[in-house]
Amino acid sequence: MSKSNNFNDENSNNSSNPTFDAILEQRLNRRGFLGMSLSGAAVLGGMGMGLVGCSSGESLAPIATPSPSGTPSPTAKPSASPTPTATVNPIMASLGFTAVAKSLLDKVVIPAGYSYQVIYALGDPLTATTAAYKNDGTDSDFENRAGDHHDGMEYFGLDAAGKPSASGAERGLLAMNHEATTDEVKSSFFLHASGGTSTLPRPAAEVDKEVAVHGLSVIEIKATNKKWATVASSALNRRVTPLTEVEIAGPARGNALMKTKYSATGVKTRGTINNCGTGKTPWGTFLSGEENWAGYFYRVAADDTNRNNDKSVVALKRYGRNAGSSSRHGWETGGPDDKYVRWNISKLGASVDGSDDYRNEMNGQGYIIEMDAYDKSKALKKRTALGRFAHESAAFGLPVVGKPLTVYLGDDSRNEYMYKFVSKALWSAADANPADRMATGDKYLDEGTLYVAKFSADGSGQWIELSMANATVKAYTTYVFADLADICVNTRLAGDAVGATKMDRPEWGGVNPVTGEYYQTLTNNSNRNVDATGSSQLVPDNANPRAYADVDGNKGKGNPNGHILRMKEGATVGTFVWDVYLFGAEADADKAMINLSNLTDDQDMSSPDGLVFSPSTGICWIQTDDGAYTDVTNCMMLAAIPGKVGDGAAQTLSYTKADTTKLNVVTQVGAKPAADKLKRFLVGPKDCEITGFCETPDGKAIFINIQHPGEGTKMTDVADPTKYTSQWPSNAGYGVGKRPRSATIVITKDDGGRIGS
Ligand code: FEO
Ligand code: CA
Ligand code: CA
Ligand code: CA
Repeated sequence: MSKSNNFNDENSNNSSNPTFDAILEQRLNRRGFLGMSLSGAAVLGGMGMGLVGCSSGESLAPIATPSPSGTPSPTAKPSASPTPTATVNPIMASLGFTAVAKSLLDKVVIPAGYSYQVIYALGDPLTATTAAYKNDGTDSDFENRAGDHHDGMEYFGLDAAGKPSASGAERGLLAMNHEATTDEVKSSFFLHASGGTSTLPRPAAEVDKEVAVHGLSVIEIKATNKKWATVASSALNRRVTPLTEVEIAGPARGNALMKTKYSATGVKTRGTINNCGTGKTPWGTFLSGEENWAGYFYRVAADDTNRNNDKSVVALKRYGRNAGSSSRHGWETGGPDDKYVRWNISKLGASVDGSDDYRNEMNGQGYIIEMDAYDKSKALKKRTALGRFAHESAAFGLPVVGKPLTVYLGDDSRNEYMYKFVSKALWSAADANPADRMATGDKYLDEGTLYVAKFSADGSGQWIELSMANATVKAYTTYVFADLADICVNTRLAGDAVGATKMDRPEWGGVNPVTGEYYQTLTNNSNRNVDATGSSQLVPDNANPRAYADVDGNKGKGNPNGHILRMKEGATVGTFVWDVYLFGAEADADKAMINLSNLTDDQDMSSPDGLVFSPSTGICWIQTDDGAYTDVTNCMMLAAIPGKVGDGAAQTLSYTKADTTKLNVVTQVGAKPAADKLKRFLVGPKDCEITGFCETPDGKAIFINIQHPGEGTKMTDVADPTKYTSQWPSNAGYGVGKRPRSATIVITKDDGGRIGS
């Protein structure tokens, strides 16, 4: 996301869901919590994993697992006997590198003994005939170039002949999201020669460029003598933009809510937008989360009346589009062509069903979209069964033959919810290498059950089913659901109906390949305060327990530094136990109320966002997208070797309200990370966020994205490179022109070893 605009920090959950006010005085029975944790051994067994020696400070060693063979996924099985020289999934006991210091330099800082290369930046050609990127605002033809704001990313191996290969470590495809652009007022100013037009109407030529830099890209990469480079001439390269035709799949396909002028039968739409987190399926396809899509659409001021204040108005408001909402870029003003008009979601036509206008167009965005990165002849599909919200990553639980698949999902806006999808189909090992990958996606992702998370004061939680079979959902009067499709499209309202827990902005999540536990970043939330007043304000609760103001730089309030919550599925269906693995904080902050994880200068960080477990090493990579600690350090990536749910202790945070009464919040604090189990690995250049993580199957090369370096540059300074807040990556020797560019880097270890060892 970009901090330069407010479309990314939407806050439209004004539901009256209970917070924990009523139960804050309850004291947790610590023994009861531990009891639950231990009973989770049965769960681990059920997930095909067991643990040996998992107490804090000991190494994690997986025992044999029956997970399917050949799974080309982040959930591939650990080896039975990991050793430092093993080539298959050795789970590391400790981190071998020296932590890097916090940095405000305009460069990528990595540990001694490691090297990096920039390999793929905004505008780089995807065909042999596309002109080299001039990087001066005159480039066009972005349908054949790398998009902007590289975000989530997955690696798909190729063999020497260029065929799909789960073990291909020297040749592969990077599939990635291009989330957004660096913009001010309406204009993506680095894309235009003199900064572009910030007033309406926007010129069509500017809109066309800005649209085309969004979406996805697939680029072939190859290592020659350990040097990685893209293959611009590869026939496998692909761009998907907001104009690419895609299929609607799952319960909402063909539903009345999906009918538009473009698809009167509601079975297709155009493109994908604001793609943030990613996922990789156990059958080898790419998943992308559509995040802050609502901000791209415009509604006229009279639209509530024009819609007769029907229930669509309730839904539009819940998703942040009040009547009169202006759009992020004003693309709807690009001209009379349908490709511009579609961004105006007002009711303009006379039809009853919306087939003559774009009043339903926004219902086509907000999903997990699936792409076969290996086969560009295959249409992408929006998997509506996984719900519609500000999606981030899609993280699969460890697949077990004969059991349903689980996909964990987060909704990144303040006060929104955590979800999971459980497939109806049971996992079959043969599906790890299917003949038709998209058809396998149909099998597992179009039918199943969506759940939302509700956290309890005692360290337990419930997964609440969102379907017409849930009487509470069916009886909801604020928004009357017609059917399952309606729930899939208006998922936030279903979460409201059942009283789901409002969280501190769920960003990425990942499943620990050792324990099967799910880790969820909660990046920050300025709405937490002890004396909460107003519909969007929340008091701290057990799962979101901190509220404070930054003590030194006055940057941020509420929960400005974020935390990482983790959960383990319970012994009975629909239950879980949880704790907080890590609290973001400045190292010198108060250890009783803020720096609860006792972070040192080698570990401290703010606003965790990306989170990916390495399938080869088990390292949990944590990436930041921060605005609260940026007076001290640029955004960063840390490596972690976490323990498990319940390895820490309950802690009570005592707040004093303005009227001097006490507010006591009991939370669960995971074991404080040892020095060799959490270290800062990388700090990025100025004004960037670090995002996206994937690796070669041998764990010897990792790929990450540096998103929006220099985003703090003023639009009026676009002609003066000396005023850019960053000149990366040109100052790292990559490309021409000094305009900063989002880019992918590859990191390798100079001794050829696995990253982090
Ligand atoms: Fe695109 Fe929630 O970060
Ligand atoms: Ca500070
Ligand atoms: Ca993010
Ligand atoms: Ca973020």
